[in-house]
Amino acid sequence: MKEISLHGSRILIGEAVANIHKYLPSSHVVIITDGNVRKCYSELCNVFPTIEIETGEQHKTLNTISYIASELVHLEADRQTFILGIGGGIVCDVVGFAASIFMRGLPFGFVSTSLLSQVDASVGGKNGVNYKGYKNMLGVFAQPQFVICDPQSMATLPQKEFAAGFAEIVKAAMLASASLFGYIENNVEKALQKDPQTLEHLVYEAVKIKADIVAVDEREQGERRKLNLGHTFAHAIEKNTPLTHGEAVSVGLCKAAQLAVMLGLMSAKEQKRVENILQRLTLPTAVDIPNSALCDAMRKDKKKSGTNIHVVLPITIGHCEVREIAIAALNYLMSVDKTVVIL
Ligand SMILES: NC(=O)c1ccc[n+]([C@@H]2O[C@H](COP(=O)([O-])OP(=O)(O)OC[C@H]3O[C@@H](n4cnc5c(N)ncnc54)[C@H](O)[C@@H]3O)[C@@H](O)[C@H]2O)c1
Ligand SMILES: [Zn+2]
Repeated sequence: MKEISLHGSRILIGEAVANIHKYLPSSHVVIITDGNVRKCYSELCNVFPTIEIETGEQHKTLNTISYIASELVHLEADRQTFILGIGGGIVCDVVGFAASIFMRGLPFGFVSTSLLSQVDASVGGKNGVNYKGYKNMLGVFAQPQFVICDPQSMATLPQKEFAAGFAEIVKAAMLASASLFGYIENNVEKALQKDPQTLEHLVYEAVKIKADIVAVDEREQGERRKLNLGHTFAHAIEKNTPLTHGEAVSVGLCKAAQLAVMLGLMSAKEQKRVENILQRLTLPTAVDIPNSALCDAMRKDKKKSGTNIHVVLPITIGHCEVREIAIAALNYLMSVDKTVVIL
């Protein structure tokens, strides 16, 4: 088991869920989870009062927060209540937000059960819900006391959801570690077979990269923006297709690399390596949606400032830069090459 500390949050990689009692306070504990995950952790959910939320991005809303609040009132939760979120990225985002605003903030922790939430969503203190169709528009920064990342959780995770998590690992490697990228290239088969040691290494390295960035910029004033690599595109893709977040990130990473090549910042050879690794990890690398719909969604992205948009561009594998691009210029680039779906 390896531990990474981040702003008071303990991220426990390789810790077994069976050891959860070591981290829970003796006070009143309430579990919040979704229906799929509850079935996998029914023993734990039988020990503590459990609130079950609906699955799916369409339920990452204020209605769900309101439902949780009403259930917490019903359970007579108070400031001594500890909230334990068990689930993937959606549960973690919703639970972190609900716990942070209920009675102005209850302590909380996560058992992070999807690969994507282990490497990204449950780490870093960002949480929140979608609002009026905009991703993560309402939320707060608040750190869980602990995050348990047990590789055994992957056993019940559907293969499609499992593969989606690799998109955020590839993102982390593209951002900061050519050696992690090389490790993925050399261990794709073992990773896809859910080999626990390979997974533990990948989760640890990806979390370390994220934690190092968040440690210097918790509130996304500068360096943390890099974590949005591929996400400006991904959020627009998620809104316009049935792809999951991780799948949309995979396409978004390819689009960011294509844009970097068009701007003369990245070599075509490195772009190909990005596409190849994502394909080998069984992830989508392109999507067929009208440019106009994606442009419109990107224009409305909450990360835009004025007429410009911040885009994270890969320069080489292991190094990215944030560039401000006029939306008009992005539109122009998108219309230049009709074979490139987004650009
Ligand atoms: N806050 C952040 O910094 C951050 C970062 C990245 C992503 N996110 C958010 O995370 C969300 C995506 O997370 P996700 O991909 O984990 O989606 P998810 O939470 O919907 O989980 C995927 C599916 O797998 C099921 N599941 C989860 N763990 C399981 C397990 N161990 N066994 C069986 N089934 C299991 C869930 O019920 C769900 O149906 C998006 O909303 C995204 O915006 C947040
Ligand atoms: Zn993401």
